Amino acid sequence: MDLYEELVHGPGYAVCPIENMQLFKKLRDSFVEKMNISTKSKKNINVVRKAMAKMSKAEINRSMINLLTFTDLSDMMINSCPSLVETLCGKELFIQRRAHTIINVPGSEHSKQWTHYEMMSGISPFTYVIWAPLHDLEDDGGAYHIDQKISLEVMKKEQEAGLVNGPTVFNMMENQKPARLKFGQVVVFNPFVLHGNVPFNSDLARIACNTRFQSYNKPLLQKNSDYLKYYRLP
Ligand SMILES: [Fe+2]
Repeated sequence: MDLYEELVHGPGYAVCPIENMQLFKKLRDSFVEKMNISTKSKKNINVVRKAMAKMSKAEINRSMINLLTFTDLSDMMINSCPSLVETLCGKELFIQRRAHTIINVPGSEHSKQWTHYEMMSGISPFTYVIWAPLHDLEDDGGAYHIDQKISLEVMKKEQEAGLVNGPTVFNMMENQKPARLKFGQVVVFNPFVLHGNVPFNSDLARIACNTRFQSYNKPLLQKNSDYLKYYRLP
């Protein structure tokens, strides 16, 4: 099955390799540098992860302000996987202006992202998401994705019951196994696929980036140029 088939008619998500590792490593270095978290001379992603694992939500939010200067994160992510993006959407795109960086702190006391799908945020149904961890995922700190057939059935049931995020979706967090990706692997998924993460134990926080993209020739939904920008792949 080719990637387009997999994403549109198959499971709705796929694990793919980063195509330009040199650029993706630069992205990670840039993140580490911007976080400016360690006073030690040796700076790497695990030093940042270790420091963040011990931080409160408020401290993490404060240090995330440093990322406001990371204005080319979304472009760097798209350019790390140019063929993947082109296969799904062509060369002329709308991409998210500012990619997200998500820091997940280990420990069951921390609130987790419940099962949800991206259409909820008002992006176009023609949008795809790239989700990329900035390190190997050696524990349950990653993300799980649920086959779109099951995802759509759950959503249909919710709609019939007049619910959004009702007990079925909420309890889906139980018994999920997040994928153990390597640094250099991404998950690409469509906006109908349910996904989320679970509490995990580790000495290290989990750090991942994600960005959204769609073809320039497909209609938008609620998001406009505040959220998206025109982008042409080289
Ligand atoms: Fe999400």
